[in-house]
Amino acid sequence: MIKVLFVCLGNICRSPMAEGLFRDLVGKRELADRIHIDSAGTHGYHIGDPPDERACRAMAHHGVDIGRLEGRKVRAVDLDEFDYVLAMDRSNLRDLERLAGGPRSHVRLFLEFAGNSTEREVPDPYYGGPEGFERVYALLEDAAVGLLGDIERRLSRP
Ligand code: 4NP
Repeated sequence: MIKVLFVCLGNICRSPMAEGLFRDLVGKRELADRIHIDSAGTHGYHIGDPPDERACRAMAHHGVDIGRLEGRKVRAVDLDEFDYVLAMDRSNLRDLERLAGGPRSHVRLFLEFAGNSTEREVPDPYYGGPEGFERVYALLEDAAVGLLGDIERRLSRP
């Protein structure tokens, strides 16, 4: 089992969108029983909350229901348990590295896996309008394809 954790600040916008999008992609490739997917926030403002309505709407627009996800805060043990810990922006990455006691090779920016975009941070859509969530979706989709390719190569190694 390969374990993937998506991390943003609040765990109500970007990382639950990434979780839902990646789970949908992994399901379509029939790899759901080989890849465990979760998300968390660096801060505890929204523990137990469902994703932001705008995030739910943007995902529903693409046929993915994330309405039953619940916010949680990232824990130090996550950094040992997950094979990929993927930060949405550099601030999230710094917080994760602080929690880990330094840089770790499996703790990275999610957009490092993006094939089409040269952007490396998923912008925080919290204080903007719905178009920000569509932009987030497009960036996440690009990186999700690259990440799945990386995992498939790992799974096919003897
Ligand atoms: P997220 O967005 O990190 O993508 O979930 C935010 C959610 C909540 C807050 C900030 C960003 N907040 O300040 O509560």
